[in-house]
Amino acid sequence: MEVARTRAELREAADRLRASGSSVGLVPTMGALHRGHLSLVEKAVANGDAALVSIFVNPLQFGDAGDLAAYPRDEEADLAACEKAGVAAVFAPSVAEMYPKGAPDTVVRPGPLADELEGAARPGHFTGVATVVTKLFSLAGRCRAYFGEKDYQQLVIVRRLVADLDLAVSIVGCPLVREPDGLAMSSRNRRLEGADRESARGLFRALTAGKQLIMAGERSARAVESAMSEVLSHDTPRPDYSSVRDPERLARLEVVDRPVRLLVAAGVGPVRLIDNLAVCPP
Ligand code: PAJ
Repeated sequence: MEVARTRAELREAADRLRASGSSVGLVPTMGALHRGHLSLVEKAVANGDAALVSIFVNPLQFGDAGDLAAYPRDEEADLAACEKAGVAAVFAPSVAEMYPKGAPDTVVRPGPLADELEGAARPGHFTGVATVVTKLFSLAGRCRAYFGEKDYQQLVIVRRLVADLDLAVSIVGCPLVREPDGLAMSSRNRRLEGADRESARGLFRALTAGKQLIMAGERSARAVESAMSEVLSHDTPRPDYSSVRDPERLARLEVVDRPVRLLVAAGVGPVRLIDNLAVCPP
């Protein structure tokens, strides 16, 4: 497995893979890899792609310097996990390598969806994501790129980014991977201990309560949101949003008369957690 440290090395690695007849499967990550990340690699390998994993904690998408500093990093374990998963190449650049001129003057600003939900709580977050993802796409060249439904709003925004800018990338969305008790796997879960780990289950409990209501015949999105919000307020110390949205554009809905996506967020202990669930009304 090759480890590229510079942008030039990444371009060369991707070109070489294509020249040898492989399709490239790019898996952008911020490291501290877990089974959720590795499920994206497995999907790339299953699709016959040469998997190219990027590991870069992107300062541009963190509003809070404390959150950036505390973000878990474990490169040694990440490289071992990639090797074991059959990854062809890893791109693990420094911040100075990715942003040699400091914070870039030119950024990619997604549309209004970037100001809602996660974007409302984290102003500028999705501009940071869209900018780094566009750089990675530009460096990797023609490829498939794998994104998890764990970050559902990010997936919707990246799909739109690729369509709007005609990028030579085909986006593959991958299912959310959970712990046995329902908690969505996340690198930030490493910072949850004791009672916080228990409270974190409240997100999936809220989603499950919302789904049960819809399955029992509730069609008012507001009623479903209130029920989720009640569970979130009861179980988690800092509940944020509970929202019922259409799955394609994440537009708000009044009536649950088609498949929907339920989305929740809450602060628990030192971290902010998000989760979501697809529901098809009977
Ligand atoms: P990160 O949080 O490391 O996630 C990298 C990819 O793994 C994302 O596509 C995310 O949705 C997916 N992922 C994380 N946990 C998952 C889970 N439990 N199940 C399925 N997929 C999961 O998302 C980012 O990094 C960054 O914003 C990035 C796109 C790399 C840009 O910096």
